[in-house]
Parts: sequence; structure tokens; C-alpha cells
Amino acid sequence: MNRIRHLVSVDDLSIQEILELFERAREFGEDLKGFASTCPGMISASLFYEPSTRTRLSFESAMQRLGGGVLTAAEMKTSSAAKGESLPDTVRVVSGAYADLIVLRHPSEGAAKLASEFSTVPVINAGDGSHEHPTQTLCDLYTLWLEKKHLEGLEVVLAGDLRYSRTIHSFAYALARFGANIVSVASRGLELPDYVLRRLREEYGVEPVPADTHQLKGIAEGSDAVYLTPNKPHQLSLFTDSQGLKVERVDAVYMTRPQTERHREGDSIDSYMRLGHETMDTEPMRDAILMHPLPRRDEISDELDDDPRSLYFKQAARGVPIRMAILALLLGKLKLKAKPPEAEARLVRVEMGKNPCPNTNCITHTEERHTRLGFRIMSRDPLRAACGYCSQEIPIGVVGCSTTRHFHRRDSAVARKIRADHLILFRDEAEALARGYSEASRG
Ligand code: NCD
Repeated sequence: MNRIRHLVSVDDLSIQEILELFERAREFGEDLKGFASTCPGMISASLFYEPSTRTRLSFESAMQRLGGGVLTAAEMKTSSAAKGESLPDTVRVVSGAYADLIVLRHPSEGAAKLASEFSTVPVINAGDGSHEHPTQTLCDLYTLWLEKKHLEGLEVVLAGDLRYSRTIHSFAYALARFGANIVSVASRGLELPDYVLRRLREEYGVEPVPADTHQLKGIAEGSDAVYLTPNKPHQLSLFTDSQGLKVERVDAVYMTRPQTERHREGDSIDSYMRLGHETMDTEPMRDAILMHPLPRRDEISDELDDDPRSLYFKQAARGVPIRMAILALLLGKLKLKAKPPEAEARLVRVEMGKNPCPNTNCITHTEERHTRLGFRIMSRDPLRAACGYCSQEIPIGVVGCSTTRHFHRRDSAVARKIRADHLILFRDEAEALARGYSEASRG
């Protein structure tokens, strides 16, 4: 039986599949009105619990251009959710008779993953809190690929609010997978979060090296720029002097707006950066294309709108053909030669009295009744795990083996060897004891 395919994270597509989707998107883009017989009779439902213009409209346009229909719930906050309906119940109702595919935007991290567990049709993540936004990333990568003809080895500046921008997080993972280098230039206090840096390091071998901010005048003032590279990072760090690694060429600058709706106490945008000609005309940036997922506030000055390097409006237009390709794929109307990624490893169970995910904005907290506390192993030495919904690291005190019913220190040699399907994580010893596990040395 065919497993339903969802697009919750950009990692749900293999590199070869993404490249093939680009080829198909190019065909769709060259003849937007020519593919109306691709998905006739099929319906997508847009469930949007947060504001959106581009993402929702480009999805709906894409579905209609493929010959399908759309159902729009753009104001989910005023729908049954306002009456207290859970996300899983809404998804169970909409998937099936109502729609053949769900496009979901939600303010909680991990919401799309939860929806995919209850849906009988494909779920596409159109943004979950500050976690991920995979289709925006495909659109961004597609633009880079069209403009630069390749992705490997590109030098991409990620700028602005790197802490809360989901577009930045998904884009950073994808750039690392494609072997591109990232220069992270965050507005002060809005640097890439630790869990993103850890994932970049552990899953893609990316090492951060301080970058020389003198070279990135205008954009990196007041920022600790960091160069993140999946390409031989250890050798690179030998070449940095006290000023940091010199960034001699920039292929693209990707700017983001301050995500003030997600900011917490203490976050400030007082010194938020603003790009104008002055910055874009300094040496390493001179040949860079300028991208932005939009909407923008004033972090890109209007004076750059007519500059041929400014691609943000083209980038938004390309959201339609790329989403046509994604919809056709998930609806089974587009067959790719490339293989999908290996199925995600099964989530590890936890036996913890209360939800251990430290992220208060995680869907496991808002929909506690419906989430199965499952975790992905991030590293074995020492054992570390991330929430299966929002990807943030969870604190582990000791680990148990479900066959021996013993528990061990999480950095012990035994803990490293326990098979994943026998592994149980505990917050602390008391939790392990309460669940009938005994300390290994005492038998
Ligand atoms: C982005 C989003 O919603 O994360 N917008 C979009 O989808 N194009 C970026 C943003 O809101 O800043």
C-alpha cells in the first residue's frame, strides 16, 4: 500500500527529487495555463490559522492552474477553532470527503507534523510557528538555481531576524544539504537559535567560523557574522585570522523582516538593519542577487526595487510554478524518477510524567491530549534527543532499556549501545524508578 506523502519539512524530499521538481516547475512556469488537465476534480483545502497573502494565494492559484478546486479557510481563528475544536479533529473532518490535500499554516511549532498524523490526505506545511516553511524554501532554492544554475559552493548571506524566521531555518538546512555556504548576519540579539545550529552541525556536518565583518560593511555592522560551511570546515578555520574568515564573494543576500509577532520580552529591533544601494554596492555584494520571502517592512529600501539584482517580486511569482510541481507530486499526478528520502527513523518513546519539550510554543503543549511524546535521536555520544514535533532538544537525565528494565547515565557506554527500539528516555532517576526501572549496577 502506498504511504501518504506529506511535506512537513524540507527534509521530506531528497536532493534529486528537489532538482527534478525544479525542472518540472520550469515547464509549468513557461506555460502557466497549459496544465489544467493535471488535477481535474481534485480539491485542496487551505487551513490558515495565521495571516498570509503570498503563500495562500500562490497555493490556490497553483491548484486552480492544475485544473483543481480550492476550499479556503483563511481565518481559522474565527472558525471552529474558536469554539475549541482541536487541530486533529479539524483535520479529520477536512481530509477525505472535503479535500484531497491540506495546506496548513499554524502559529505552533510542530502543528503540521501533528496534522499529518491524523490526516488521510497529504498535508503541506505552509509555516508552523518559527519552525519551518518548506515550500517557501523550495521557492527560494528554485530562484537561486534558476539564477546561478547550481547550488553547491554558493555563498549566501542570511540576514535579519534569524532567530524567529521559519523561512531562514528551512532555507539554512536546505542550503547545507546542497553544499552551499552560509554567512549568517543576524540583527543583534536575533541570531540563529542553538537548536538550528546544532542540527546544521550534527545532520549536515556544518561548522561555524567567525566571519570578518569589515568585508560586509553596511550589512554586518553591529553583528557577529558567522560563516557556516559544510565544506571542509576544519581546514577553513586554519585560514581565519583574528578578524575572522574573509568573505570575498557573495552570490545572494537573503533578507528577512523582524518577526515581531513571535518576539519575546527582551527582543529588540532598535538597531534592525536596512539595505540600500550603499550596502549592495560594496565589493563582496556587488554581484549578489537580493532575495526576500516578503512581506518586507523597511529592511530593504525602496530605492533597490528597480535594481536588476533585486529578485524578490520574481521570487514571489515563482511560488506558483514550484507549488504546482509540489501539489502535482503529492496528489500522485507527477511521477519523479528520483527516489524519496529514507523513511524517517521511528520516534523514540519517552516515559516522562509531564511533557518534557522545553519549547512552550510547541504543539505538544497546545494539543497535549493528541500528541504522542516521541523524540528523534540527535546524537548517541552523549545521547541527545529532539522533540519529534518542534525539533528542539529535550532534557534527558537517564536512559532505560525496555528489555532489561535497567536505567543508565546518558553519557555511559551502555547507553550508547541500547538499540533505538529498546531505548526509553527519562527526565531523571526518580522518573525511571517510578516507572519500575532499576539502576543498572544494582541489577
Ligand atoms: C514568510 C512567512 O510567513 O514565514 N512569508 C511568506 O510565506 N512568504 C516570511 C515572513 O512572514 O516574514
